[in-house]
Order: sequence, then C-alpha cells, then structure tokens
Amino acid sequence: MSSVFHRALNRKLPLITSGEGIYVVDDSGKRYLDASSGGVVVSALGHGNNEVAQAIEEQLRKVPYFHGGVFTNQPMEELAVHLVSRAPTGLKKAFFVSGGSEAVETAVLLARQYAVETGQAKRTRIIARRNSYHGATLHGLAIGANIMRRTPFMDIAPDILHVPTCYAYREKLDDETEEEYGLRVADEFEAAILRVPQDSVLAFVAETVGGNGSGAMPPPKGYFKRVREICNKYGILLICDEVLCGLGRTGDLHACAAEGITPDILSVAKGLGAGFVPIGAVMTTDAIHEAIRNGSGAFRGGFTYSGQAVACAAALKVQQIVERENLISNVRSMGEALRQALISRFSNNSYVGDIRGRGLLQCIELVSDRSSKDAFDSALGVNSRVRDAAMARGLLVVPSGGTVDGRKGDHVVIAPPFIVTHDAVNDIVERLGDAVDKALESL
Ligand SMILES: Cc1ncc(COP(=O)(O)O)c(C=O)c1O
Repeated sequence: MSSVFHRALNRKLPLITSGEGIYVVDDSGKRYLDASSGGVVVSALGHGNNEVAQAIEEQLRKVPYFHGGVFTNQPMEELAVHLVSRAPTGLKKAFFVSGGSEAVETAVLLARQYAVETGQAKRTRIIARRNSYHGATLHGLAIGANIMRRTPFMDIAPDILHVPTCYAYREKLDDETEEEYGLRVADEFEAAILRVPQDSVLAFVAETVGGNGSGAMPPPKGYFKRVREICNKYGILLICDEVLCGLGRTGDLHACAAEGITPDILSVAKGLGAGFVPIGAVMTTDAIHEAIRNGSGAFRGGFTYSGQAVACAAALKVQQIVERENLISNVRSMGEALRQALISRFSNNSYVGDIRGRGLLQCIELVSDRSSKDAFDSALGVNSRVRDAAMARGLLVVPSGGTVDGRKGDHVVIAPPFIVTHDAVNDIVERLGDAVDKALESL
C-alpha cells in the first residue's frame, strides 16, 4: 500500500509515466488523450516543452531561490512587466504566489489590508456566488460554494454571504433576454448589499467564467458591467478570480477584459505556469498598491515561495510561447469546433440538458430528465461513471458533481490544451460520446 496520503483514499490510481503534446501514458503503457489539461484545466501547452524545460534549467543553474523580502530576481521582474503590460487597463502591479488558492487568499488579504489602511476597517464582509469554486484554504472553501468540500470546515471558516451566479440553463426565465437575465442576477447582488450595513462590505468575489465547480458558466452580456457599477456605487472591491478561466483559456487573455471591465484585483494561476511549475499571481491597481505603500509600507500577506525564480522563469517562457504561437486564437477556433462537435453529438441525447462554455472551456450538464431538468440521484455517482468510462476509452475529461446546488447535479468539463488540433477535437468528442452512452446505459 502507498505511503502517500492521497485525496481519494479508496480508489487505486494509475501511475503516470510520461507525456507529450496532448497525450499522457501510464505505467501499463496505456495512452490517454488529455481533454482535461492535466486533470483540472492547467496544462495549457500540453505535456512537455523543451523551451520551458530549458528556461527552468537555466534559472536553476543561475540561482533557484532567495526570499522576496531580501532580493528581487530577474524572472519575477520580467514576468510582472509581461503580465501588467497586457492586463486590463488599470492593473499595474503583480504579486506572485504558488497557486490558485494562495492567489484567492492573497486577494482577500490585499483587499482587507487596503480597507484597514484607508480608514475603512468596518469593511469585513465578503460577498461571493453560489455554484463557485475558489480553492481549498479556509477562505477559498468559504467563498466557494462546493458544499461537499466545505461542509466539514464551515464551523471554523469565515462567514460569507452568497448570492446567485449566472446559471442561465436553470434560472433564466423564458420571457427574459440574456441581458435582462444578467441584470436581474446583478440586481440580486445589490439587494444583498442593501440587507447589511453598506459600509460593512469589503469585496465581491466572482469567477468571471465559471470553472469546474459550476461547469463552464459564461456570464450573460452586461452582467459584469452592472456588477462593476454596483461595486463602485458602494465602495466595494471587485475581485475577479480567473485562476481557471484566465490567461487564454476562454479565448481572451483575460475574461474580464472581454466583459469590458477591470476588477480591483485579478487572480490567475493555472495557465500561468501551465503545470510546469506551481505559480499563481494577483494583479492590482495603483490605488491599492499606493495606499499600502503610503500607509504601513508593507503587505502583510506573502509566502516563502512568493516569486520563486525558477517558477517565474518557467511562467514567463510559457506566456511568451502562448503569445508567439498565437495560441489564444487557436483556443478560439478550436473552442468553436469543440462546441459544434459537442452540439452535433449530444443535442439529441436525452441525458444531456445543457451544452455551454467559452473557448476551450466547454461543458455538458447531465440530467435524468431533459424536460424537467431533474438531476440524477447523487448516490448514482454519474460523473464518476463517466470519468471511468472515458478513462477506459483512453480519454481524460473533468467530470464533477454538485452542479445544481453544490450537492446535486453532474457535469463534464472538456478543456484540452491550447495546442489541440481539429482531428483531436473530433476524437475527443467521439470517445466522450461512447463514454457517456456506456456510463448511462444501465441507469
Ligand atoms: C476559480 C478557481 N479559484 C481557485 C482555485 C484554487 O486553485 P489551486 O487548486 O491551484 O489552489 C481553483 C482551482 O480549481 C479555481 O478553479
């Protein structure tokens, strides 16, 4: 038996031995087509890249690590310039961390320290959205809405107010346009602010495009513009969590820029190091940076590995390759091809209620009855069945549960690396179609 404390304690995991392009191989020699980008939408460049390996080796040989409170380092300085010069207007500074949860946690700490240092210490409340995932720190779990993951910890976690997310498939009314629906959801956010002392709200945290927790939920047009206006009106900081959907995954470098807004704080992670190294970042405005610089002069967050030189060198190379190879335009065209292939394979499947997503972040939501939109009984473990049937067919996708309310519901996210080709897209959808048929045939 393994000495590792695995997450899934009762499931035998295959052992991965190699990877190349969009394929990985396990120790039995089985080859998998990776439509999950490393299981959870990370590996934007696929598996293995000589240029990234070389950038890592070069930095490793120069100097791998020194704490960021003592020295700065060249890859971190260059990565920050690369990111802020392409960021939504107004985001001027980047702070580095080691992953998505640390990025969300840092965003919250930054927001709170800014409030304290600008005489707004009464602002303690965070508002977030249902059907979201924001990481596995106590703040991340509390801000997120995955009931199965958060339940054991809620008695020791911060109290977060949750408002509806943009779940058009279940919540848009038939006589509403997409825009009207988006404005209604944004109004529910404002209504929540009005139910508490208005100067007690610190920040609103939202995934710009929902990720694995919700099943690739894009916002209706106009929703984020209205959210931005509401935040401005009440002096609330807007934190867009683009740990999963950012840096090209949805066909835009930053999903919030595509919505026409700039948040006060933006978190990114998965596509930043693309799985080669653990890294994340938050980007923020001069207003927040200057308030802290002119106040205490020291940000109280930060970790031992913030700005680790090897991680920054790898991430910089990843971002340069994404730009040089025009990969975000491939995300857009392959995303559309994937979407069309999913529609033609599943639109007549009585168990597929919704097909949604943006760019190379697409999703099918599975239901037991298409007309009532009833979810399957969660005890049936439908999403795990799909995962197993897909793996048996040499396909990796991202199936999850809790789609509807954090407990009920099943969906499958399909999110291949940015380098995916047309042929591979067709292969993914063919294998997924067989896997879904097989997983659901006995139900
Ligand atoms: C939107 C979002 N925020 C935060 C996180 C947490 O990131 P990590 O698992 O790297 O800590 C995730 C991870 O899936 C995510 O999707």
